[in-house]
Amino acid sequence: MKLTVLGIESSCDDTSAAIAEDGFLLSNKIANQQVHKEYGGVVPELASRAHQQNIIPVVDAALKEAGRTVKDIDAIAYTRGPGLMGALLVGSSFAKGLALSLKVPLIDVNHLLAHILSVFIVRKNSALAVPVFPFLCLVVSGGHTLLVIMQDHLHMKIIGQTIDDAAGEAFDKCAKVMGLPYPGGPLIDRYAQNGNPTAFRFAKASVKGLDFSFSGLKTSFLYYLRDRLKENNDFISRNLNDLCASIQKAIVESLTVKLLKAARETQIKEIAVVGGVSANSGLREAVRALGDEMKWNIYIPELQYATDNAAMISITGYYKFLNHQFSSHHVTPVARFDQL
Ligand code: KG4
Ligand code: ZN
Repeated sequence: MKLTVLGIESSCDDTSAAIAEDGFLLSNKIANQQVHKEYGGVVPELASRAHQQNIIPVVDAALKEAGRTVKDIDAIAYTRGPGLMGALLVGSSFAKGLALSLKVPLIDVNHLLAHILSVFIVRKNSALAVPVFPFLCLVVSGGHTLLVIMQDHLHMKIIGQTIDDAAGEAFDKCAKVMGLPYPGGPLIDRYAQNGNPTAFRFAKASVKGLDFSFSGLKTSFLYYLRDRLKENNDFISRNLNDLCASIQKAIVESLTVKLLKAARETQIKEIAVVGGVSANSGLREAVRALGDEMKWNIYIPELQYATDNAAMISITGYYKFLNHQFSSHHVTPVARFDQL
């Protein structure tokens, strides 16, 4: 018998639905929300309303692309958190209503665990290699930065995390200081391609152990620009590519130094990097280079599965189903990771 899981993601500003069958991805549809662009960040109320408008068309599209109908769905997996409460409520309420009407089980998914399992998103007949347990995973998203050991699909052992801003937040805040629109991470990546990463140096934090810190770097970037702009108000536009390449290098180095330390301490050579910031070309390149040098096996999701998507929710739902981890309809969304 086939096991068909519908995955639903609505934690931030992407409404997404995906279908996985027996752990293989059949479809993944994403409706991005453009409404936030002019506000310089995600506006929670607008995100919730857009999820409400997008969710049914996105689920329909995912079913259609998979060549399945609602009758084929055996379980519904949805993001419980962390994320924006109003946004999570739309996905979870939709998932509960549909699960009740189809009389199928409901599976609540931790968004960060799902990012980690994005390295298991495979289509049938794909030759993609997946990590062997235990593997070490660097999770870098807009709201979180974690180093995790995975002993199996479902248990995360956190060995390091940020003490202030997340890596994605550092990218977005530095981009904002340069006047770039939200989300600035992908734009820094794009401008950095034509810039000199050694043009400017910014003070990086040194945090003990396997934890990270980005707020000092952001402040040093802000003060540096403020001083240069006093002398020359075109400073940013004249140096945009070099500024982007230099700040990207600083963020990437702050991440790779801890990844290397964690790999040395744990003696693990199976290394995954996931989450929105794993789409960054500088980070991908740096981790691959380090992997060649250290003889690691590296796993980074395809770009479309690095940022928020429901494919990772449906795959996580599949592994939770196999472990009989179902969710009661009384379970409610949770905004913060430490409350999950
Ligand atoms: O995982 P994600 O899509 O959402 C969260 O769970 O937060 O991550 C979004 C973050 C944003 O901060 C965005 O700027 C960053 O990932 N991001 C990037 C790139 N693509 C997305 N940062 C740097 N370079 C990129 N290419
Ligand atoms: Zn995410």
